[in-house]
Amino acid sequence: MEVIERVREMQQYAETLRNSGKKIAFVPTMGYLHEGHLKLMEEGRKLGDCLVTSIYVNPTQFGPAEDLAKYPRDFKRDESLCKGVGVDVIFYPGDLEMYPEHYQTYVDLEGVTQNLCGLSRPGHFRGVATVCAKLFNIVKPHVAIFGKKDFQQLVVIKRMVEDLNMDLEILGVSTVREKDGLAMSSRNIYLKPDEREVALSLSRSLKMAKKLYEGGEKDAGKIIGEVTQFISRHPQAKIDYVKICDTTTMKDVERLRGKGVIALAVRVGVARLIDNYVFGETLDL
Ligand code: PAJ
Repeated sequence: MEVIERVREMQQYAETLRNSGKKIAFVPTMGYLHEGHLKLMEEGRKLGDCLVTSIYVNPTQFGPAEDLAKYPRDFKRDESLCKGVGVDVIFYPGDLEMYPEHYQTYVDLEGVTQNLCGLSRPGHFRGVATVCAKLFNIVKPHVAIFGKKDFQQLVVIKRMVEDLNMDLEILGVSTVREKDGLAMSSRNIYLKPDEREVALSLSRSLKMAKKLYEGGEKDAGKIIGEVTQFISRHPQAKIDYVKICDTTTMKDVERLRGKGVIALAVRVGVARLIDNYVFGETLDL
C-alpha cells in the first residue's frame, strides 16, 4: 500500500493506471475510520483494479463554530485499517496542498443544497462539492463510492457529477450501524455513556416512521409529528430538523407519493447526529 501526499504525484499515478487500462475505484473520507468507511472500501475493492482512498479533514466544509480543530484524527490506525481491506493507495494531502495561497474557486449547487443540512450548516455543501470535485480531478476515478448515511451529500455529489459532465460513476452504499442501531460515525466518540441511549432515539424513530408508512400513513406532517414527539421525550436531544423530502430534489413533500426520505439531525451533547430512511427500502435494525 502506498501513501501519496502530493497532488501531482497522485495525478501521475492515476494517469499511469488509466493508460494501462486499469479501473480506479475511489472512497473519499475524512479519516478516523470505522466499519461504515470500511464497507465502502470493500465495495470499491470489488469494483476496481486499484482502490484509492483519501484521508483529508476538509476545512472548507466546516462552519466557523464547528468542530474542525477537534475533529478526531489517527492516521496510523487508519493506515492499518486500510491495509486490512486491501486499499492500494491512500491519498493524504495537507491543507496547503489542497488549498494553496490564492485559492479562490468553489463549486456551488442550487436547489439540492437549500434544505436540511444546507440550511443548518451554511457553506457546508459548497465545501463538500469543491473538495470532491478537486479529489475527482486528482484521483481520476472511474467510480467513487459514498455512504447513504449522508444522504443529502450523496444527492449533491450525483447532481454535481451530472451537471458538470464529470466522467465517473457515483455509487451509494447503505448505512452501517452499531449492534444497537446507532448509525456509525466518526463523531460518535463525542457521545458520553448516558448520551448514547438518547442517540438511539434517532434510529428507533426511523423504525417507527417505517412502520407508520407500511401501515398506510402517507401524510408527511403526521409522520414528522410522531417522530418529533418520540425524539423529544429525551430532553437531552435537541432537534435540528426532522423532514421528509423528495429523494432527487431534496424539497419537502407533504404526501408520500414518489420516492421520499425522512432525514433527521439531532444534537446530543456536543455531537450533531444525522440519520435517514428512504421509504420503501429495507432498514437494517
Ligand atoms: P466522512 O464523514 O469521513 O465519510 C466518508 C464516507 O463514509 C462518506 O461517503 C459517508 O457517507 C460514509 N459513511 C460515514 N458513515 C457511514 C456509515 N455508518 N455507513 C455507511 N457509510 C458511511 O463524508 C465525508 O467524510 C466528507 O464530507 C467527504 C465526502 C470525504 C468530503 O470531505
